[in-house]
Amino acid sequence: MRILFASSEAYGLTKTGGLADVSASLPVALRRRRQDVRLVVPGYPEACSQLAHAQPLPGPPDAPWQLIEGHLPGTKLPVYLVDWPEYFQRAGNPYSASNGMDWPDNAQRFAGFARAITAIARDKAGLDWAPELVHLNDWQTGLVPVFLDPERSGLPRPRTIFTIHNLAYQGLFPAKAMDDLGLPSDLWTPDALEFHDHLSFMKAGLVFADAITTVSPTYAREIQEPESGMGLDGVLRARTKDLYGILNGVDYRAWDPSRDRHIARTYSAEDLSGKAENKAALQKRMGLEVDPDVPLLGHVGRMVEQKGVDLIHAACTPLLESGRVQLALVGSGQKDLEHATGALARTYTGRVGVHIGYDEPLAHQIEAGADLFLMPSRFEPCGLNQMYSLRYGTPPVVHATGGLADTVVDATPEHLADGTANGFSFTPDTVSALTQALESALDLYHRRADGRWEQLLRTGMGQEFDWSTSAEHYLSLYRQLAPRKRQTATA
Ligand code: ADP
Ligand code: GLC
Repeated sequence: MRILFASSEAYGLTKTGGLADVSASLPVALRRRRQDVRLVVPGYPEACSQLAHAQPLPGPPDAPWQLIEGHLPGTKLPVYLVDWPEYFQRAGNPYSASNGMDWPDNAQRFAGFARAITAIARDKAGLDWAPELVHLNDWQTGLVPVFLDPERSGLPRPRTIFTIHNLAYQGLFPAKAMDDLGLPSDLWTPDALEFHDHLSFMKAGLVFADAITTVSPTYAREIQEPESGMGLDGVLRARTKDLYGILNGVDYRAWDPSRDRHIARTYSAEDLSGKAENKAALQKRMGLEVDPDVPLLGHVGRMVEQKGVDLIHAACTPLLESGRVQLALVGSGQKDLEHATGALARTYTGRVGVHIGYDEPLAHQIEAGADLFLMPSRFEPCGLNQMYSLRYGTPPVVHATGGLADTVVDATPEHLADGTANGFSFTPDTVSALTQALESALDLYHRRADGRWEQLLRTGMGQEFDWSTSAEHYLSLYRQLAPRKRQTATA
């Protein structure tokens, strides 16, 4: 099948979070299943410089953009970068300037990206190739199904799938953006693009795509409820028959302690001896006291409300005070959370090590060197780090939500006895529930001599969250998908 996979980030070209990991891994997994998949990403400066075998293409006459063709680094996956200098050639990240503020023209930038995707989808980009299916990801691509809507254009079109990676980021813009972007005013209704007096790119995708997926079965259920639907639960319930939850996978070429180039010493479930060396190396790198016996807790993530780093601060403070744990964190995001995390490291020198910023080798070193991996996310569509930590023999401590609930089996006495336990999970998302989970984890850790800790670790290390399984699910969905006629939905 000819598939165009569209995303605003892809690992190897540009990355701010898990969307990039998925957008690199899933197309490659589909290619391995002999599908003609091609990836389209905005031509950010970093993406242009990383693209392998880059070659500019002529592009459609009169278009303000052209395509640069190449391969995703290290793979044979064909990539098109939308080279639109006015929109994408800027320093900073894909969505915001270096001061953390969203780019003021994000509506224009990603509507522009959607127009370029639409041109490729309609074979109007000079490629002599037209996809049978377009797989769209998150709000940045949400307008594509609108532009492709045959009820509006009368033209035949490929089928469309829209994947929600995170419902918290909806691409909301003031009402006047409708005009600015040249969108027809009859779409300004609550069953099309209007969301509480704003234009919603996310809603455009949810209403107009032939099918919707999200990245775990539990999150697919949760977002149809008012508590987790971020105001879009009504729209999602109206499309419940077309909504699927497919769990992400892990790229074990990058995330496997037996061949990880970033860690002090490789190890595996058969020979765990290297783990202690990684712990010592991490303690050293993060300025912690080098002590093999004190439990070292790790965390990697964007520092935003979602990830619950404030819960980590609160639950760990008494444990740090009494010297019962050490903490190693890497992340960046909201300034208040960055400052609070920095302050914790200053209060507990030698016990808390923090790096504010994005550091990929350090993320691997934390996965390998920590004894427990903390992920108390308030919500988590899928989450990748908990799956990485399972493979690294670093049991995750998670809030039982979304993809965390689908991948982590709590170490209750029953699950320990039947060998299914692989970590610790708690609910609700409160400091006291996290504290209790940490106490159970520390208890099991200190009783390592009874063998249950190692069993837990080995259960996690032996699990496969393989992309080929997820790719198979996507492929069968692609095959069964029929173009749909739009029905009325309400926000
Ligand atoms: P999300 O997409 O919500 O950020 P995921 O768990 O799906 O969460 O994916 C996060 C990805 O980004 C992982 O690959 C993780 O290792 C990486 N990551 C997040 N923050 C950092 C950081 N500060 N340094 C290095 N890698 C990071
Ligand atoms: C989002 C979610 C995360 C998910 C990732 C990839 O950023 O927050 O849970 O793993 O997308 O799908």
